[in-house]
Amino acid sequence: MSSEISANKPAPIIAEKNINKFNRTSGLRETIETLENGDYILISGFYSDALLLLRELHHYLKDELPNNSFQEQREYRTEYRRLSNLVLLEIKNQKLVVRKSPDIGWLEKFYSDNDHFFLTMPQVQGLNSAWQWYKNGISVPVLRNKLHTYYGVYFPTRFDHLTLFDNWLKRYQGPKKSAIDVGIGSGVLSLQMCKHGFQKVYGTDTNPNAIIGLTEFMADTKLSRKIELDYANLFGKWEKQTELIVFNPPWLPTSKELDRLDEAIYYNENLFPEFFAEAHKRLLQDGKLLIIFSNLAQITNVTNEHPVENELAEGGRFQLENCFKKKVKAASHRTNRDQHWRSEEEVELWVLVKL
Ligand SMILES: C[S@@+](CC[C@H](N)C(=O)[O-])C[C@H]1O[C@@H](n2cnc3c(N)ncnc32)[C@H](O)[C@@H]1O
Repeated sequence: MSSEISANKPAPIIAEKNINKFNRTSGLRETIETLENGDYILISGFYSDALLLLRELHHYLKDELPNNSFQEQREYRTEYRRLSNLVLLEIKNQKLVVRKSPDIGWLEKFYSDNDHFFLTMPQVQGLNSAWQWYKNGISVPVLRNKLHTYYGVYFPTRFDHLTLFDNWLKRYQGPKKSAIDVGIGSGVLSLQMCKHGFQKVYGTDTNPNAIIGLTEFMADTKLSRKIELDYANLFGKWEKQTELIVFNPPWLPTSKELDRLDEAIYYNENLFPEFFAEAHKRLLQDGKLLIIFSNLAQITNVTNEHPVENELAEGGRFQLENCFKKKVKAASHRTNRDQHWRSEEEVELWVLVKL
């Protein structure tokens, strides 16, 4: 399956020949001026020179721009993004050319047919940290084995919603022949269902990397016979009715103004109406529809709308069996005042049944 779909990855940059170079002996002022003019800078010495330049960019912008109000912070970030995305690193034979650079396995996986190109430093940093997570794995309290999440795939960093789901699965007494996991992502919910004895799980995702990553992760182990994947919108090719449907959807509405495109985090206005209509067709009469959600959008004043509450009030398809809530454990190291709302954050597990 994975051979038919191609992974999302940073597009290689083919840069012109005479790019200005930067290493630790270069003048910072001229380098930043070059970036301000919209021209690329190529890091030529050590990997740490690129980190140094990005640090200097922050110092420079802090002096130049106010960074207090929400609007000012956004402008600051936009400007930082514009300038840092002009800082290039050269890649030859799937390796970074600068000295003392990290080994990033994605370069071989993604660019095996491209022996010479450039990427921006933020892209390289993204690839590097994703490689560390992928290689070392992520421990989640509800699973014995670590997750090895592929580049560009959402993975859980807090676990309260997974605990809610696990507690529900522990008490669930119904049949366990099959389940559907819409937006399977790192596969964590499907793995929990398998752990609790579900025989077959069908998982979809619109992010090709999620499907490629899980296909690779399961390879030809027993799991690959339990979890079937489809790179598709919502339910994809699964037509048969099932006793359990789970969906951990994006928790925030998109806003055109913000140009936020990440489908793991932001939902568009069609997602939930379509999801509930399709879920209704796929759920057995005695089946359960589980949705993991959060009050994040409400407590950050993004919207008062709650897609599950809307469906219950207006959909005429489902009724509420139960809604479990759990306060998200405050991360004590977060002192940033913009995060004060985190103390009110709750995750929700909605259990719906057919009317
Ligand atoms: C918040 S993440 C949850 C991932 C995983 N189920 C978990 O609980 O960690 C949402 C996932 O849904 C996927 N997704 C978003 N819209 C989708 C759609 N219309 N159809 C299928 N998957 C979708 C995203 O790509 C992402 O992997």
